[in-house]
Amino acid sequence: MFGKEVYRRRRAGLLGRMAAELPSGKAGIAIFIGNTEAPQNYRGNDYKFRQESSFLYYWGIDEPGFAALLDLDSGEEVLYGDDVEIGDIIWMGPQPSVASKAAAVGVDRSAPSAEFDRMVSTARAQGRAIHFLPASRYYNVLKTSSLTGCPPEDVRKVASVSDGAPHASLEFVNAVIAMRLVKEECEIEEIDKACEIGYLMHTEARRGCKAGVREQEIVGRMEGVTISKGWGVSFTTILSQHGETLHNHRHDGIITPGKLLLIDAGAESNTHYASDFTRTVPCSGKFSPRQRDVYDIVVACNDLAYGLARPGVTYREVHLAVAARMLEGLKSLDLVRGDVQDMVAEGIAGMFMPHGLGHNMGIDVHDMEDLGEDLVGYDPGQTRSPQLGLGSLRMARKLVPGHVITDEPGIYFIPALIAKWKAEGSGKGFINYQKLEAEYLDFGGIRLEDDLLITKEGCRRLGPHRLPIYPDEVEAAMASE
Ligand code: GLY
Ligand code: MN
Ligand code: MN
Repeated sequence: MFGKEVYRRRRAGLLGRMAAELPSGKAGIAIFIGNTEAPQNYRGNDYKFRQESSFLYYWGIDEPGFAALLDLDSGEEVLYGDDVEIGDIIWMGPQPSVASKAAAVGVDRSAPSAEFDRMVSTARAQGRAIHFLPASRYYNVLKTSSLTGCPPEDVRKVASVSDGAPHASLEFVNAVIAMRLVKEECEIEEIDKACEIGYLMHTEARRGCKAGVREQEIVGRMEGVTISKGWGVSFTTILSQHGETLHNHRHDGIITPGKLLLIDAGAESNTHYASDFTRTVPCSGKFSPRQRDVYDIVVACNDLAYGLARPGVTYREVHLAVAARMLEGLKSLDLVRGDVQDMVAEGIAGMFMPHGLGHNMGIDVHDMEDLGEDLVGYDPGQTRSPQLGLGSLRMARKLVPGHVITDEPGIYFIPALIAKWKAEGSGKGFINYQKLEAEYLDFGGIRLEDDLLITKEGCRRLGPHRLPIYPDEVEAAMASE
């Protein structure tokens, strides 16, 4: 938890932003519903608790069962939660009072949970606008629905409250996004810590990559690093010799010389800030010439994005520059043919990289995606492309200092996608299907991911060190481990 002044400042900022958008004296109330415990298999055997991210950002309390109110007309702030009773103390031990928890985050008023429900009900009866965020967890969806009268299926719809219909509040969502997108110094320090743990995780994984070892064993050793130093993983680990499957969560392979091992994993710090790195290493310790050729293109794309990312440039432009660089490299391998800019316009890069160049990162590894991918990642006036690859770009905005984004180009040879495009005649005249089918269907995939902070001058890679990435340094590291 940060100092109370951080949370006070954030809530004041939110109040100011929303007041500027809403009719004076009729702004209404903003409600925050924190997460509850979530059962794994039966009530009483819960998943490790993770607080709702915007609740954490504005109210700091990292415990289940809290809610909060920001009255947008009066500026009143109230934290709602229940003090423990003897029945709880037997199981949980003594706990600080709700009032003292509120004071720790700069909130003067607290009240029992039941008062939260009554307060929302009174506000509704008075015809006040109720601003809420689109909840992701089912409990929060149902709680929001029962409090506000919004049908559960509309709780994730985001629109202006001015139309009077019950749904999540565009004004609230936009204000939260504007604040959370630009990271404060104290947040950057936490992300740097998460990146340091991520560095250690990947170092452990690379060391574990030896012929005959089970992927699951490497995952266990790697995740142990973040469990011992932080909160845990920031998302479900991807570690696979089938890197062409983008989110491959199976870890049942045995490390086999000749293959590539793609490791996409990150840490969540104890304050819940994320890191997200990907490295792809040769299972034999040395890249084959064919692997190295493709790897060199992906490194060049990663370095290019780092070189281009700076204030004033959109990340969509960086994605497209990377697509051009990738196609140039693939052209030199005779996997594609033709004018590179024509191929960029046709979306040919999407066959090799069917995902976007990167996403925002912060308290969530894909930061604020539960508030709406387009609202988070696109500036007003920017629209999402329908093309494969560019259409999956989660962060297209014009960059400003304080943005934290990932730089994660990849090249994948996905047999089913190659077959589909060929059958449909997509990319005809540009893609050398003959060579792809003869030589690359068993290649797998390569992704190389770093985390960037946009600075006044350009950007910097987060974390104290960059993980080895150039082929020679990867091979040297593996030879010495
Ligand atoms: N971990 C998934 C990603 O890199 O976005
Ligand atoms: Mn990743
Ligand atoms: Mn990522």
